[in-house]
Amino acid sequence: MAKINNISKKKFKISVSLLSANFYNLCSQIKDIENSKADEFHFDVMDGHFVPNISMGLPIFESIRPLIKKPIEVHMMVTNPDNHIKSFSNAGANLFTFHIETSKNPTLTIETIKKSNMLVGVSIKPNTPITKIIDLIKIVDRVLIMTVEPGFGGQKFITDMLKKIESISKIINDGKYSTELAVDGGIKLDNVKSAYLAGATTLISGSGILNSEKGIIHGVEDMITKIK
Ligand code: DX5
Ligand code: ZN
Repeated sequence: MAKINNISKKKFKISVSLLSANFYNLCSQIKDIENSKADEFHFDVMDGHFVPNISMGLPIFESIRPLIKKPIEVHMMVTNPDNHIKSFSNAGANLFTFHIETSKNPTLTIETIKKSNMLVGVSIKPNTPITKIIDLIKIVDRVLIMTVEPGFGGQKFITDMLKKIESISKIINDGKYSTELAVDGGIKLDNVKSAYLAGATTLISGSGILNSEKGIIHGVEDMITKIK
């Protein structure tokens, strides 16, 4: 019981992924996210190579950055993340998350991101084992567990990933690391609490919030209420 009480008092962040935004109304949706209780923005960059889809890149990031006061994570689903560290840092990204599957020398990638004055995230795809990132957990600011195959918004949460969340959460807690544990993909009102109870501390949601019938501001509030 005590454990459950501790868990339910644990702090968490809500992050809104812009991938499912209606780009015709992007400006007003950004304002709604700014005015909501969300903690940060999540900006998905895809290259059509590491993942099958192509999403947004630097020019869009540069145009929207001045509209946003909250921190922005760039989630780099690209084959060569190192090539883009400097440009996204210059454009005002706060947290640069790369995929472990893409980096030839993850320690060097992490060093380069840190030297560029951004926080560092490392992400793993659903089928990538934890062993690939185990040594990096204590030196990054965030581990981002993909709970869908990266590439598209609006997919179904892979329930099997709850075990992965629990395992990484245990490593973080046992080591007393300050590393955040983020989950990305298919996070909706009906599963956000289970991801949180498994140990996720940052809940990233795109379609779950942007397509909320009550609008973005209420969509974020509903997510928060579900967790508490
Ligand atoms: C998927 C992206 C996610 C996506 C989440 O490759 O990394 O950030 O936007 O969208 P939902 O919440 O709709 O699954
Ligand atoms: Zn993402």
